[in-house]
Amino acid sequence: MPARAADGYKAPMPRSVFEPFRIHSVEPLRMTTTEERQAAIRTAGFNLFGLHAADVLIDLLTDSGTGAMSRDQWAALQHGDESYAGSPSWFTFLDAVQELFPFEHVIPTHQGRAAEKILFTAIGGPGKVVPNNTHFDTTRANVEYTGASAVDLVVPEGLDPAAEHPFKGNMDVGALTALLVEQGRERVPAVFVTVTNNSGGGQPVSLENLRAVRAVCDAHGVPLFLDACRFAENAWFIREREPGQSGRSVADIVREMASLADGMTISAKKDPLANIGGWLATNDDALAETCRNLLILTEGFPTYGGLAGRDLEAIAQGLREAVDHDYLRYRARSTAYLGEGIAAAGIPIVQPIGGHAVYLDARSLLPHVEPLAYPGQSLAVALYEVGGVRGCEIGTVMFGRRPDGTEAPAAMDLVRLAVPRRTYTQSHVDYVIEVAAEVASRAATLGGYRIAEQPAQLRHFTALFERLP
Ligand code: F0G
Repeated sequence: MPARAADGYKAPMPRSVFEPFRIHSVEPLRMTTTEERQAAIRTAGFNLFGLHAADVLIDLLTDSGTGAMSRDQWAALQHGDESYAGSPSWFTFLDAVQELFPFEHVIPTHQGRAAEKILFTAIGGPGKVVPNNTHFDTTRANVEYTGASAVDLVVPEGLDPAAEHPFKGNMDVGALTALLVEQGRERVPAVFVTVTNNSGGGQPVSLENLRAVRAVCDAHGVPLFLDACRFAENAWFIREREPGQSGRSVADIVREMASLADGMTISAKKDPLANIGGWLATNDDALAETCRNLLILTEGFPTYGGLAGRDLEAIAQGLREAVDHDYLRYRARSTAYLGEGIAAAGIPIVQPIGGHAVYLDARSLLPHVEPLAYPGQSLAVALYEVGGVRGCEIGTVMFGRRPDGTEAPAAMDLVRLAVPRRTYTQSHVDYVIEVAAEVASRAATLGGYRIAEQPAQLRHFTALFERLP
């Protein structure tokens, strides 16, 4: 007999974590043959950044700006008001940002690195030192461009791909204290914490760690900034993993994270679910004034930054959706599902699986390819040739060149498969796992590469490779 409410029957909680949306508009994927892919990657000099995206079947190059906007975000675009100054869209954006991040001054930019450029132009400079759990590459580049040095102080577990720890993104508080004692507040203009720690595998930072970092910053009179690109995923992991946090809403946890900081930079292309955008925020009036003056030089008037009014609307709506629990449960679970499948297919991965990406340990999979023959590049090319899956080498190609032009192996040779938000379904992920299993079965046949041509900086974007015989 069907259960009736009067029976007091309660269905069990569903075990399947499914996409909390249905599909409203679709984009076709173009199937390609192995021969077509082999030709395409050869033409691109075996560099995945050189491919036409139309030749890629499942694009896991980045989770940045590649997510699907919701019906309500597309509707919000129509509310975009393109007034040069004081647009209603600006106030919609400001309200949505301050609802989660109650900083006094919010300065919109066209993406995250523009916020970094402005902030470090204001506070960086020769002799300055900026600690972070791990700088993302553009953050490091913007610090160093001013003549300052960028120091990474993640906990030791954060550097060991196999170490299981719930908050591998945490800052090493002892090392931070030592740095502040040694350098003094004059040389350290700000302490940064990246949530989640992208370069360290998308690993979260606990509230307890943020509080401890805050206390050290207070003791030394140095402001604390968040690089908050993946703030919602970080807050979700806090809710799931940190003792005493499971009853709270993610929005509430985000507000506490913000309350521990004096300011933030962010790319709206990540957790805010937009295709473009970013901002910089601070409680410091004088710093805000300096930054707004810099903003006007490169981005635009302070009520739109580098964005159109419609972009501000899309971000405002995206922020409301980003902290939805059903969405975040699905987000964390679907990334974990990809990682578990790849590990079961025989490719070692960074553990535990982070929020936005799975990191494949190419050095372990391909022990016969020396680091200076780029095992990460070899694995990334194989995933593309075998199945049209595009990932990104994060290893000796990206980090192996020293300033004097010589090369050394990077700490790890990884391939990142970053998951765009709300874009691919579980069957796409099953397909990626199938491709990974096929590549794993052929691991012994994969060879190394050499670089034939490369630019002076950030070589991974444009270097041309040749296969070693
Ligand atoms: N900070 C972090 C932690 C990031 O991951 C990124 C971008 C940025 C800052 C810069 O933001 O791209 O809007 O200028 N990460 C992308 C990625 C590109 O693929 O991980 P942006």
